[in-house]
Amino acid sequence: MNYLTETYRLANGVKMPKVGFGTWQIKPGDDAYQAVSHALSVGYRHIDTAQGYGNEESVGKAIHDSGIPREEIFLTTKLESHIKDYEGALAACEASLKKLSVGYVDLIIIHAPWPWSEMGKDCKEGNIEAFRALETLYERKQARAIGVSNFSVEDLENIVAHNDVVPHVNQIGYFIGIDQSKTIEYCQKYDIFVQAYSPLGIGYLLENEVVNEAAKALAKTPAQICIRYLLQKGVAPLPKSVNKDRMIENAQLDFEIDTDWMAKLDAVKGDPRRWE
Ligand code: A2P
Repeated sequence: MNYLTETYRLANGVKMPKVGFGTWQIKPGDDAYQAVSHALSVGYRHIDTAQGYGNEESVGKAIHDSGIPREEIFLTTKLESHIKDYEGALAACEASLKKLSVGYVDLIIIHAPWPWSEMGKDCKEGNIEAFRALETLYERKQARAIGVSNFSVEDLENIVAHNDVVPHVNQIGYFIGIDQSKTIEYCQKYDIFVQAYSPLGIGYLLENEVVNEAAKALAKTPAQICIRYLLQKGVAPLPKSVNKDRMIENAQLDFEIDTDWMAKLDAVKGDPRRWE
């Protein structure tokens, strides 16, 4: 099975390739252009960017220059986390379409429930307004699906209670060791599809002993174990790499982690990420 083209179905029927290509921290310009061009050339058809990454223009150019028909690519972008008013959000999303040089995105999501510089701030009113702007894009068919990112159960409840559209997606940091069970349970209840960013724990999970033991036992690489684990959880992993060989490696996922190894991986606890 090719997980780059095999799809999940969102609540509104839109199909989304199971494994996406993340572009966080990939510098705008040549780096992002090359990375996305390589990813498309090895078969990725689900590309994830954000206003906040600053690389939308390069991502859009790579998509355009690939010659791949627009409808064969699932493209996501994200509304900047500090924009919490309707007009501002709408203008920022329209600017994204221009930067990406596309008539529509497949998915647009609120990047976070609070500005990154004020994590945890109560922005309930602002999130309702920002999501209203996404609803406008959805009505205008400038976005085929709309959603949120980094939203907790409480943040999701606010949108479900006050907006018209139930978010189609919640993109969260999800990888072996992190407990996202409460958010995932809520998302399943409301048919909000979960996308998993940082499936490799930004790389640090690859040093984990259990992951390495599983890789050895199953004759796979640690990265493949981490990504396959998430597929078996029914979510959409968004691995990222600037290295073409690793892009290929991260897509070779046609194997099964048996229940014993899944249980051992489930028992891993702790967030391995380091920010230095
Ligand atoms: P690089 O871009 O140099 O390949 P995550 O997707 O969890 O955020 O992890 C991304 C990090 O993991 C990047 O630093 C990336 O480095 C690294 N990475 C991605 N794929 C692999 C792989 N198959 N093996 C080792 N490191 C990887």
